[in-house]
Amino acid sequence: MKVLIIGSGGREHAVADAFGRAAETRQIYVSPGNAGIAQEYACVQLKGHQEIRDFCQKEEIDLVFIGPEQPICEGLSDYLRKQGIWVFAPSQKAARLESSKAFAKYIMSKYDVPTARYSLVKSLAEAEIKIQEYGLPVVLKADGLAAGKGVIIAENYEAAHQAAAELFATNAGATGILVEEYLKGWEVSLFAITDGNDYVTTLFAQDHKQLYDGDKGPNTGGMGAFAPVKSAEEYRMAIERDILKPVLKAMREEDCPYTGILYMGLMITESGAKVIEFNCRLGDPETQALLPLLKTDITEICKRVRDHKVAGMKLKWEAAVCVAVVLAAEGYPGQYLKGIELSNLQAKSQLFYAGVTSKNGKLESSGGRVLSLVAKGENISEARQKVYADLEKLAEPRLIYRKDIGLRENIL
Ligand code: AMP
Ligand code: GLY
Repeated sequence: MKVLIIGSGGREHAVADAFGRAAETRQIYVSPGNAGIAQEYACVQLKGHQEIRDFCQKEEIDLVFIGPEQPICEGLSDYLRKQGIWVFAPSQKAARLESSKAFAKYIMSKYDVPTARYSLVKSLAEAEIKIQEYGLPVVLKADGLAAGKGVIIAENYEAAHQAAAELFATNAGATGILVEEYLKGWEVSLFAITDGNDYVTTLFAQDHKQLYDGDKGPNTGGMGAFAPVKSAEEYRMAIERDILKPVLKAMREEDCPYTGILYMGLMITESGAKVIEFNCRLGDPETQALLPLLKTDITEICKRVRDHKVAGMKLKWEAAVCVAVVLAAEGYPGQYLKGIELSNLQAKSQLFYAGVTSKNGKLESSGGRVLSLVAKGENISEARQKVYADLEKLAEPRLIYRKDIGLRENIL
């Protein structure tokens, strides 16, 4: 099988690695990929839908796996499918569960899925009323795709007012903003693989979104993750019954059946699991901790989805714990340093590259999140020991990382 993976981050590197382990895979391409991924897999620079289609036809690509949300929300999966190309990703219409928070909330309220109370407001005056109604802290969100930057948790009314005004002033707030009840609890991610009717869920994974240890500092794209999350297991049945099943049913009834991966970002609260967000793809960096444990052939998963045969599928996982620690460039998530040389990096851990480029044949950083180091162990402490043994040897102060990935206690 010839596979084309769309995307350029650590998640796509981990996806390529999973295809690399699959029996049937003959050739893996990644577009655009990055210089780190290119050390192992062929990276091609395809721009726009047509170039991707032409490449698929010329190279006789069997399967296109789309990593990030952006191309899905721009309609790449629909476009390729119309050309008869096999794509693993939901349709643009189904991906509204991620691209429009208002749509996701509409589905959830109509089908009684547990989530934070919310109001979609169209003006600052309306926002003020709802902010008062929900009380503090209050959550404000842009409706459209905001690459993780569209959420503000305001601790006082002044901050809430300012955030609402700023959201209305940007594109992301053009179709309105959401004022939302603050949910107290701990967060966990769960992925469903679905053909629209039936589903199978993965191990739970936990992202660490803040920059500093102890969940302090600004929000980032994710500073590390681990899987599985044992403390979440007791919620699995209720999540499938009360969240996943009704949402898949809703999507069928709304005439946009959901196929591919559905990412459930959940808050475990005193009254059970509630949805924070849906994404139409795998998580980054959760995937870097999850896929190394997957023993089921990933091409088999894609085929089952294509053929509507997810019913009865069981996923096999290694009985281990996997930890992924992200190395970010100093300054991230603000203005960050670029050009940090990486060729001296000595690590026993597996490396999944994100923001890297090649200069004079040497690998250097070009993005905020540069790469992740990934290791498996019999338990969390063994996995952590392996990763952190590598990181302690790293004599590069311009690369920053959290020292507490996998240590969260998850108590209510
Ligand atoms: P989102 O982009 O919706 O995933 O939000 C980003 C982050 O903001 C989440 O991962 C949570 O940590 C936090 N967040 C979003 N909505 C809420 C909420 N209603 N209550 C508490 N925290 C939230
Ligand atoms: N890890 C958060 C995300 O992928 O959206």
